[in-house]
Parts: sequence; structure tokens; C-alpha cells
Amino acid sequence: MAEFKEAPAGANAGQKLLTWVDNRFPASKLYKEHLSEYYAPKNFNFMYFFGSLAMLVLVIQIVTGIFLVMHYKPDAALAFASVEYIMRDVPWGWLVRYMHSTGASAFFIVVYMHMFRGMLYGSYRKPRELVWIFGCAIFLCLMAEAFFGYLLPWGQMSYWGAQVIVNLFAAVPFVGPDLALLIRGDFVVSDATLNRFFSFHVIAIPLVLIGLVAAHIIALHEVGSNNPDGVEIKAKKDAQGRPLDGIPFHPYYTVHDIMGVSVFLLLFSAVVFLAPEMGGYFLEYNNFIPADPLKTPAHIAPVWYFTPYYSMLRATTDPMVNVFVVLVAIGAAVTLLLGGLSRNAKVVVGVSALVFIGLLKGFDAKFWGVVVMGGAVVIMFFLPWLDNSPVKSIRYRPGWHKWMYALFAIDMLVLGYLGIKPPSDAGTLVSQIGTIFYFGFFLLMPFWSRIGEFKPVPERVVFQPH
Ligand code: HEM
Repeated sequence: MAEFKEAPAGANAGQKLLTWVDNRFPASKLYKEHLSEYYAPKNFNFMYFFGSLAMLVLVIQIVTGIFLVMHYKPDAALAFASVEYIMRDVPWGWLVRYMHSTGASAFFIVVYMHMFRGMLYGSYRKPRELVWIFGCAIFLCLMAEAFFGYLLPWGQMSYWGAQVIVNLFAAVPFVGPDLALLIRGDFVVSDATLNRFFSFHVIAIPLVLIGLVAAHIIALHEVGSNNPDGVEIKAKKDAQGRPLDGIPFHPYYTVHDIMGVSVFLLLFSAVVFLAPEMGGYFLEYNNFIPADPLKTPAHIAPVWYFTPYYSMLRATTDPMVNVFVVLVAIGAAVTLLLGGLSRNAKVVVGVSALVFIGLLKGFDAKFWGVVVMGGAVVIMFFLPWLDNSPVKSIRYRPGWHKWMYALFAIDMLVLGYLGIKPPSDAGTLVSQIGTIFYFGFFLLMPFWSRIGEFKPVPERVVFQPH
């Protein structure tokens, strides 16, 4: 046990109370470690707003969620009407509900920007691999949270969207149908499904999410933040052991982040008050019609934040599986011919390629669509080990690397757009090209990230006071 400290002579009541608390709980220690003596690089730009904004949205979702649960009824016969009751009769209910529905989309906008920032500045690289991995786990939880939450209003889109996604699990070989039954709790989406989705949405996933966010921040504060230059500020310290290019998080970045929060709240309020449905993108029009198990809507599309992945699912047709077969064969041939492998290694590569091709042709394209969709998220976990660039930040990479990242962002936007639209031949072809680019970007990264002329990385961060 640490020794009890005495309050300094002449201390006021507040200081005495703090000393009393500090002797029993590390309040001042935590405040210093995470705020007043957490040294963050002095060159953060606006891309660094999105971490604190993600925390703000998390709080908005939890607080508004608590108030929604006070009036919502997780019962297939009552759910839709209870949401209408919240919208029309509960005082300020409309505001709470619109904040929660807009918050869902805002969460994804903020988190996508946050992840893209990490990719641009190489924030996932040593020693921040765990910060990134916790982040990817958070992203998976967010997707699950949004999916479960979407069933709760029990509108047409809630119902049929859940039907489509749960049926995807039925495509898993051997265990699929049982798995889908387990998720639904019934042979069709029903009251049992609504009850379990409610339970996951309001308690199970939020608990995991909060735990993961805590782990994400603790891991980050253990290693320290990266910055737009990708320079480790801990490498250059003053006589007191403080990084020369670091500034205390509080007050500098607490004040800085208030700026980001203000702009965010302005835009957030504009959507909540003026366009909560956002043209059917944040709240789909079909979801204002109560769920009807006997009437399938003509066009079922997930909410915009899932559509890049949904496009990849739809792109995986039988001809696309044939393209995968050709790509695996080419990959194996190139590795065998140019890889300089030992005889044993060549046998392993050859046999693995044949087994993989056999599996590709052996299972349904629908199953591979599910694998592609899931793989698109899972591959993000491996990013720290795929990037072999000698520098972290995009600032010091060859010019064409910037184009690769720009194309990656455009690819996600195009896939997202196509996922909203009803399927068409041209759309499917573009999605297929987009899917191949997406996976090529990651799977070939170990090679392309090393190539080109890299600029020298400065010893200290570059910062122009403004
Ligand atoms: C609820 C969601 C999330 C919250 C609340 C959150 C919170 C934060 C905060 C407060 C920071 C420090 C400030 C900053 O660097 O912006 C941070 C840093 C970071 N986050 Fe997240 N995050 C979330 C999701 C994610 C996701 C999904 C990823 C990636 C898959 C991710 C990857 C990172 C990385 C790599 C850093 C370090 C950035 C650097 O030092 O340059 N985070 N996060």
C-alpha cells in the first residue's frame, strides 16, 4: 500500500478533500497521466479531431439510447407503435429519437474519417499495432450494434434487411441453416428475433464497445500518439524527460478539440433539426411502413454505411469466382517462378493454391460473397503487417502512393454508391472491379508499399504556429 500523504500546510477544503481521495483512489495520478502530463505531438491537424468526436458520439448514443428505452417496447406487436408514440407523444421524444438515428450515421462518418487518418499517417505501425487492433474490433462492434439496432423500429426495412442479412449466414457450408436459426431464434424473423436483437443492442454490444474504447485509449496512452509527420516524439526529450515536440493534452488539446466539437455539433444539429431523414439515407422511407412478413419490398438495401461491403457481396457472382480462381493461379505461378523458394516451399505453395481453387469451385458463390464481405473487414486487422513502407506518414511517401490512397477512398465511395442502387449489369461490373481493387490494395501492399522514391523524414515534427 502506498504511504498516506498529508495535505500541504494552509491547504483549503478542496485540496484537503483531494488529498483524502488521492490516498484512496489515484484521481490526481490519472488526471496527470492522461491529461495534464500526457504529452501529445504539437502538430496535430484537423484529422485528429475525429477520435474525440467518436467519444462524443458514443456518449450521445448511450444517453439518448437510455431515454429511448424508457418508452420503447421490444415486442413485435408493439414496437412500431411505441416508436411512433415516442415521436408524437413523449415530450422531446422526437428530438431524442432523431439524435439517436442521426448519431448512428454520424458515428460511421466520424469513424471512417478516423480510420482513414490512421491509414494516411501510418498510425497502425509499430508500436501502435494494438491501438489499431482494438480500433478494428470497435469497428466490428459498431457494425453489429447498428445492425441489431436497425431491427428495433420494426418497419419494413428493419424486417427485410434483417431477413436478408441473417439468411446470408445460412450460406455457410454444413452449419449455415442451423446458424441462421440460432441467430433468428425462429424459422423467420419474428418476436423472438426482436427480443434477442434488443438485448444485444442495449446491453451486450455497448458493454463490449465501452470496454474496447477504454482499451483503445489505454493502449494509445501507453505508446503515445502518432502525428501527421509520423515522427516518434519520444525520441527527443528535454532534461525533465518531456518530449521536445510534445504539449500537454490539457489544456492545449482539450481547447483545440472544443473547436472540432463545435463544428461537429453545428452540422449534427442542422441534420437533426432540418433533415433528420437526410433524403432517405439516414432514415429509409420504407421504414415508416410497419413490418409486413407477407410483403417483400421491391428494393432492399442496407443503410449507407454498410453499402460498400454490400456491394462486394453482390459483386461475388459465379463469373467473379472464376476471376478469383484465375487470380489465385496467377499469384501461385508468380510466386513459384519468381519467389526464389526452396523445393519444399514450392510444394506447399502449389498444393495450397490447388486446394484453394478446389474450395472456390466447390462452394456456392453466395458463400464466397459472405467471405468476401467479412474478409473486407477482417483484412483491416492485418494492416500493421501488410505495410512495408520505410516511412509512416503519407507526407514522405512517393507521389503515386498518395494516388493509391485517393483511389482507395474513391473506390469505397463508388462501392458505397452502387450498394444503395438496385443491381444492374454495369453496376455489378464496376463493383467487381472495385472489389478486386480493394483486396489488391491490401494483399499487394507488402510489395507496392516498398516501391518508389521516399522523401527523407525530418528528425523533429514540422510545425508552423497558426
Ligand atoms: C468508438 C469508436 C472510437 C473511439 C471513441 C476512438 C477514440 C480514439 C481517440 C480519443 C484517439 C486519440 C485521438 C486521436 O488520435 O484522434 C484515438 C486514436 C486512434 N484510433 Fe481510435 N477510436 C475509435 C475507433 C477507432 C477505429 C475503428 C480505429 C481503426 C480501425 C481506430 C484507430 C485509432 C488509431 C490508430 C489511433 C492512434 C492515432 C494516432 O496516434 O495517430 N480507432 N481513438
